[in-house]
Amino acid sequence: MKTIRVVSYGVGVIGRRIAEHLLSKEGVEIVGAIDIDPNKVGKDLGELLGRQPIGVVVSDDVDDVLSSTKPDIIVHSTMSYLKDTYPQFEGILKHGVDTISTCEELSFPYATEEGKAYAEKLDKVAKENGATLLGTGINPGFLMDTLPLLLTGVCVEVRRIEVVRQMDAATRRIPFQKKIGAGLTVEEFKRKIEGGEITGHVGLVQSIGMIADTLGWVLDRIEVEPVEPVVLDRDVRSDYVEVPKGYNAGLRQKAHGIMDGEKVITLDFRAYIGAEEEYDSVTIDGVPPIHQKISPCVHGDYGTVGVITNMIPRVIEAEPGLKTMRDLPLIHATPVHMGRYLG
Ligand SMILES: NC(=O)c1ccc[n+]([C@@H]2O[C@H](COP(=O)([O-])OP(=O)(O)OC[C@H]3O[C@@H](n4cnc5c(N)ncnc54)[C@H](OP(=O)(O)O)[C@@H]3O)[C@@H](O)[C@H]2O)c1
Repeated sequence: MKTIRVVSYGVGVIGRRIAEHLLSKEGVEIVGAIDIDPNKVGKDLGELLGRQPIGVVVSDDVDDVLSSTKPDIIVHSTMSYLKDTYPQFEGILKHGVDTISTCEELSFPYATEEGKAYAEKLDKVAKENGATLLGTGINPGFLMDTLPLLLTGVCVEVRRIEVVRQMDAATRRIPFQKKIGAGLTVEEFKRKIEGGEITGHVGLVQSIGMIADTLGWVLDRIEVEPVEPVVLDRDVRSDYVEVPKGYNAGLRQKAHGIMDGEKVITLDFRAYIGAEEEYDSVTIDGVPPIHQKISPCVHGDYGTVGVITNMIPRVIEAEPGLKTMRDLPLIHATPVHMGRYLG
């Protein structure tokens, strides 16, 4: 039975969680690891995961790792924007290796003009080298795009879609809590948003783009509201940060897909320390109407590990080129033995 050879590219918080999970599966072997962080380069991946060495030393030499290990797939988890990850993908694809990435803008690059230009180039390089490239994750990648699209599968008419994700950021990894500015004063938060130091959630535009394009909706535009601080009238805390009353606990971000002057898609993302209720909801105004609520919300870090791992066989089996979640067969959990799933 086939053993899937994986290279882990980017062994930050998410990359390590994915690697940890892959080590618990059968029929999967991690054969290489890549990162540029000097604190990780030269270290054994097993040790970075807090376990015994596994004989895989983290390297910053992509060409050397890929030509010496010849993996079936790369699990890539470094950065959010295509301007940063594009050269990384080019460097990988020329080795003809299938790749699955958490890069948010890669989930549906066609949503922006800049993204379309990257997508065209990536699709071309992927096809020329016989490789498949997929951007996915929990969000974007599943909760605010793939899931609502799946739910429209029972509708004979869809007029409007609203998705809300509300989570208590205290349960999430530290980079995420930093990313939402938890513990800052409101002024600091606003300054960091303006300076681009805090970006908030990346991916609303891509999720709206994927929904609209798949339903054949030609949008006038995608409107992203300013990122808003969330200020509570009580003290809250996580293991990482104290948030006194009146300080910023996290953020709220809304975006809309506008068609014929109407908001036909609304995505509402709320992540803050101390959120009272955690849920993911999808409301479809259509025939039949749909209201689906997942409560508590899907844990984002586990969810990302799940989506990335479960899509590995899909990406290996796919035709070469740049793919998005709506191009590939339905995602579902994979058996413990990944090779068995591939047949
Ligand atoms: N789609 C989704 O649902 C989803 C879910 C979770 C995460 N993400 C995204 O996935 C990315 C990783 O998340 P994370 O929390 O694991 O971040 P992280 O802890 O900062 O890890 C990223 C790692 O990649 C390294 N890196 C950066 N540039 C690199 C390059 N050119 N080559 C090799 N390694 C490089 C970083 O090194 P340095 O620290 O030295 O820069 C760091 O070790 C983020 O962009 C995050 O937003 C997406």
